[in-house]
Amino acid sequence: MEVIITSDYDEMSVVAARIIRRQIIRKPNSVLGLATGGTPLGTYKELIRMHREEGLDFSKVTTFNLDEYLGLPPSHDQSYNYFMQENLFKHININPANVHVPNGMAEDIDGYCTWYENEIRKAGGIDLQLLGIGSDGHIAFNEPGSSLGSRTRLKTLAESTIKDNARFFARENDVPRFAITMGVGTILEAREILLIANGEKKAAVCAEFIEGPVTARVTASALQLHPRVYVVLDEAAASKLEHADYYRWVQQEKQKLSGIASQVSFLRRPVAKK
Ligand code: PGA
Repeated sequence: MEVIITSDYDEMSVVAARIIRRQIIRKPNSVLGLATGGTPLGTYKELIRMHREEGLDFSKVTTFNLDEYLGLPPSHDQSYNYFMQENLFKHININPANVHVPNGMAEDIDGYCTWYENEIRKAGGIDLQLLGIGSDGHIAFNEPGSSLGSRTRLKTLAESTIKDNARFFARENDVPRFAITMGVGTILEAREILLIANGEKKAAVCAEFIEGPVTARVTASALQLHPRVYVVLDEAAASKLEHADYYRWVQQEKQKLSGIASQVSFLRRPVAKK
């Protein structure tokens, strides 16, 4: 895991957007896994800015979202379909045919979940998966106790998640109790993973998933098993990390390394013949 500690929410968002931009530039037809919630809003704003001001091109990009509430149609203003349209898709040049957000109105839920997994496979798998983290340690809606090998399926939301998400609804009772969500096993198949978290409220759970044991009690801890994970935190979310100084030192030293690496590649560049 590469832990990158940034000063605040804005810097966290810019660093996350740059990692996504690097992926799209490296591979214009990238398959991105996307997330909803309060955390990625700044990242999406920065990606929209990059599209408008720098011409970041999404025309060949394919996306798969992590999850959707069961029973909410895409037109519902609290559905994740609606969230993605409003906060990213309608502002960039993505082809709507390449966008996938689980359908919360699916009737044959098991069949739908199998289809969703197959669509990810048919697209060549996810190159870079963006994640937030719930205060109970969930990634997507993989609540505590979810199998670390789980696939896309129906999941019952934890009480703490219902309470956390009640802020987006008129009443707590309006928060759906079920969701269709990618599994932990589905997420771990992404080639690279980028988890972002900010704020004091996430400090304890960030320490648990980064430095604690791998456990289904904190499903984000399964990311310790993945070879290419970036965790971008703000100071507040990083405040309970035991080894924060080490992570900062790694970033500092790596900058020197990239200096050396670019120098090496410069030295190796063939000299033009006169
Ligand atoms: P948040 O949600 O970004 O709104 O904090 C994160 C999550 O539940 O995954």
